[in-house]
Amino acid sequence: MLVQVYNLMAHGFLLFLLLSCIISTNIHACKQTERSSLLSFASTLSSPPLNWTCLDCCRWKGITCDQDGWVTRLHLPSKGLQGGISPFSLANLTHLTHLNLSHNSLYGSLETQFFLSLNQLEILDLSYNRLFGELPLSLPSIYIRTVDLSSNHFVGAIPSSFFQQASNLTSFNVSNNSFTGYVPSSICQQHSSPFLRLLDFSSNVFSGNLAPGLGKCSKLQVFRAGHNNLSGLFPEDIYNATELEEIALPLNSLHGAISDKIVNLTNLATLDLYYNHFGGELPLNLGKLSKLKFVTFDFNNLEGALPPSLMNCINLVELRLGSNNLEGDISMLDFSRLSQLTKLDLRANNFTGTVPRSLYSCRSLKAIGLSGNHLEGQIEAEILSLKSLSFLSLAFNQFTNLTGAMKILMNCRSLHALLLSGSFVGEGMPSDDDMVDFHGFQNLRLLALAGSNLTGQIPLWLSKLKNLEILGLGFNQITGPIPSWLGTLPRLFYISLSHNRISGEFPQQLCRLPRLLYEPIASQVDNYEFEFPVFSTSISIGANQTYPQQKLYFLPGRIEVSNNNISGYIPAEIGQLQLLRKLALDSNNFSGIIPDQISNLKNLEVLDLSTNHLSGIIPSSLASLNFLKEFNASYNNLQGPIPTGTQLQSFNASVFEGNPKLCGAPLPNKCKPSKGIDAYNKNNKDVDNGLHQLPWFHIFVALGFIVGFWGVCGSLVINKTWRYVYFQFIDNLQDRLYVMIS
Ligand SMILES: *[C@@H]1O[C@H](CO)[C@@H](O)[C@H](O)[C@H]1NC(C)=O
Ligand SMILES: *[C@@H]1O[C@H](CO)[C@@H](O)[C@H](O)[C@H]1NC(C)=O
Ligand SMILES: *[C@@H]1O[C@H](CO)[C@@H](O)[C@H](O)[C@H]1NC(C)=O
Ligand SMILES: *[C@@H]1O[C@H](CO)[C@@H](O)[C@H](O)[C@H]1NC(C)=O
Ligand SMILES: *[C@@H]1O[C@H](CO)[C@@H](O)[C@H](O)[C@H]1NC(C)=O
Ligand SMILES: *[C@@H]1O[C@H](CO)[C@@H](O)[C@H](O)[C@H]1NC(C)=O
Ligand SMILES: *[C@@H]1O[C@H](CO)[C@@H](O)[C@H](O)[C@H]1NC(C)=O
Ligand SMILES: *[C@@H]1O[C@H](CO)[C@@H](O)[C@H](O)[C@H]1NC(C)=O
Ligand SMILES: *[C@@H]1O[C@H](CO)[C@@H](O)[C@H](O)[C@H]1NC(C)=O
Ligand SMILES: *[C@@H]1O[C@H](CO)[C@@H](O)[C@H](O)[C@H]1NC(C)=O
Ligand SMILES: *[C@@H]1O[C@H](CO)[C@@H](O)[C@H](O)[C@H]1NC(C)=O
Ligand SMILES: *[C@@H]1O[C@H](CO)[C@@H](O)[C@H](O)[C@H]1NC(C)=O
Repeated sequence: MLVQVYNLMAHGFLLFLLLSCIISTNIHACKQTERSSLLSFASTLSSPPLNWTCLDCCRWKGITCDQDGWVTRLHLPSKGLQGGISPFSLANLTHLTHLNLSHNSLYGSLETQFFLSLNQLEILDLSYNRLFGELPLSLPSIYIRTVDLSSNHFVGAIPSSFFQQASNLTSFNVSNNSFTGYVPSSICQQHSSPFLRLLDFSSNVFSGNLAPGLGKCSKLQVFRAGHNNLSGLFPEDIYNATELEEIALPLNSLHGAISDKIVNLTNLATLDLYYNHFGGELPLNLGKLSKLKFVTFDFNNLEGALPPSLMNCINLVELRLGSNNLEGDISMLDFSRLSQLTKLDLRANNFTGTVPRSLYSCRSLKAIGLSGNHLEGQIEAEILSLKSLSFLSLAFNQFTNLTGAMKILMNCRSLHALLLSGSFVGEGMPSDDDMVDFHGFQNLRLLALAGSNLTGQIPLWLSKLKNLEILGLGFNQITGPIPSWLGTLPRLFYISLSHNRISGEFPQQLCRLPRLLYEPIASQVDNYEFEFPVFSTSISIGANQTYPQQKLYFLPGRIEVSNNNISGYIPAEIGQLQLLRKLALDSNNFSGIIPDQISNLKNLEVLDLSTNHLSGIIPSSLASLNFLKEFNASYNNLQGPIPTGTQLQSFNASVFEGNPKLCGAPLPNKCKPSKGIDAYNKNNKDVDNGLHQLPWFHIFVALGFIVGFWGVCGSLVINKTWRYVYFQFIDNLQDRLYVMIS
């Protein structure tokens, strides 16, 4: 015996395992059919091996048997399983109650056979795989409680018979697939699923109305169907599901008013309805819902004033009402009891009055968005009691006393983003005389002071903002030169100075902006989230959304100095700014040649050199700018042939016009002696008119709005933190704008 044990040890672990398997076989006796069923399942998988080797399948990893040796659980989540699920492989596991294969890479469809014999199943979790195809006609088991098929590639409608026998269903999640047809409200038919607590249909292609029925799910706590193509009215009978804690239907085309009946949903904590067409007024008694934490109605058509009762919702964490038609004097509202409020978005409405003083007692506030209203008055020093304030957007109002505001706000230590564009019209740029010993804004990353016709020069105190990344000073009356110290700000990658009266030369120092020289290594990349992510889009609101697609990490580097009086050469050193995406030098007095080195800007997408006095040829190396989408060299004194056989020919001829000595495709004139001077003069006039007609042309608009919540509230809250930012040019401004950085 001793010798045997010694032998065992000597022969190592494998033998030991075998022995233990044999011993356990004697106790457990895994059924032969079950074993072969499991092996057949495993055989269709590719790497990594499941190591199902020993005889007794009840000892296998991920398998649980009952006392009689029937397999009851198959639990293999996040095991890196790959391969197809064969439709028959699990069919013999007739005693299976728990099937959890989530977070793998399994593919295949759930044909009826897959379910066929699983009629004891209680828990089915196949989420985060690559399963496809339509669902079978019905769930396999009357015992089923939890179904999670989310984050796969399922298609088709959910058959109304699907839930027929599922009388104990509590949780059903099919989010993030491609299901079509109606949201199956039949799920709540009387007696069918009386225990249903959680329904998630979000991020699919469901369409049509939300048919009545949900109200019969009397235990329903969470209902999500956001990001679909739903239309029609908010389902009235949902007000009967009085256990509801969360209603999330954002990103649809639902309309109508929210009824005052909503006050019956006394447990409601989340009302997430942004990006729809909801109209009417906010329910007058909304404030009776004292558990409300997240209310998001941004991008709807709400009208009227804010119901004062809202200020009784003392648990509010996030209140987003931006981009509606709300109105009324907000100065009178008493926010002082909202001590949990962290984000307030009232942007792009018709609110009047001043910044409510009571707001300054909401000590949790991190983000305030008031831009795009008719607010007036001055910024009060009390704002400094908001120690966590990180995002402040007051743009496009009628505030006054910019210098006073800046002197106060510069002491706001947590401030990351300050958007003041389009207010303080005609005032002077806060200058250094007023800001002696400036030592504020130490965490500021975004400063937007555009569109206000501010006078004065670019102030020296900006040179102390070592964290500044985005600077928007366009559309003012700024005079003087571009200070060369701008090029020393270590984090700056976005400069917009367009439409001012800036003169002098383009400083060479600007060609050494550290953040545009090299790709930052991953560890240097901060967490670029603002409390309201900064977006820019043409906001065509509808079911077809443009989603943020690029991480802020890829935020386009840009230098825009269009429409100023800058003279001198384009410095050849500009070629060092490898990460530059947009360079706009148009409508200035630049002279000399187009430096060959511009072709080093391999990431360049937009290059506008038009309406200057540039001469010489277009360097053929420009053709190597593979990402160039917009190019304009019109109205200069360029000459010679447009480099042939390159992308430059793919641009419209208009981007070369106004250069009488330029020739070759796409221009009509062959490379022979120049065309007459008359044509040149005529065209020149046209372009001048064009520019004045469209003062907003190419304005870069940044919108800040949150998509989803910022996971602070446990499992009931959508945790769709989109860490992305999307930038795009504006070509129409019909829609309401938030904040202009330019
Ligand atoms: C299931 O059981 C049947 C009959 O016992 C057998 O023919 C079939 O091969 C089994 N299927 C699997 C996948 O083991
Ligand atoms: C199978 O065994 C190998 C080697 O011990 C191990 O690396 C692998 O993780 C095991 N697979 C599973 C699914 O446990
Ligand atoms: C499936 O397993 C994962 C990982 O253990 C777990 O997080 C998840 O809750 C399980 N699914 C169900 C429905 O229990
Ligand atoms: C439903 O659940 C209840 C309580 O958990 C249980 O008593 C009943 O047997 C279940 N019914 C079915 C069909 O599973
Ligand atoms: C549904 O599943 C998704 C993952 O695919 C998850 O993010 C979401 O929170 C789930 N829904 C509910 C209500 O738990
Ligand atoms: C949606 O599903 C895909 C896989 O189909 C997954 O990669 C992605 O992370 C899921 N999205 C969310 C928000 O869960
Ligand atoms: C809501 O419930 C009440 C009482 O149970 C019922 O009379 C009413 O018809 C229900 N409303 C809807 C819209 O289903
Ligand atoms: C709402 O609650 C009131 C009183 O609690 C009740 O009379 C009314 O029927 C309820 N409405 C619905 C739609 O359940
Ligand atoms: C604001 O009100 C004016 C009229 O008072 C109206 O023309 C305008 O459309 C409203 N703007 C918004 C954003 O609702
Ligand atoms: C501007 O604001 C500052 C600081 O609040 C204040 O001291 C100053 O009096 C204000 N100026 C005017 C003209 O109101
Ligand atoms: C700034 O001045 C220009 C030219 O005087 C004028 O057209 C424009 O409306 C002014 N902008 C604002 C925001 O007042
Ligand atoms: C939605 O956008 C995609 C991508 O831009 C486009 O292909 C599709 O046709 C659009 N769908 C609708 C309904 O507009």
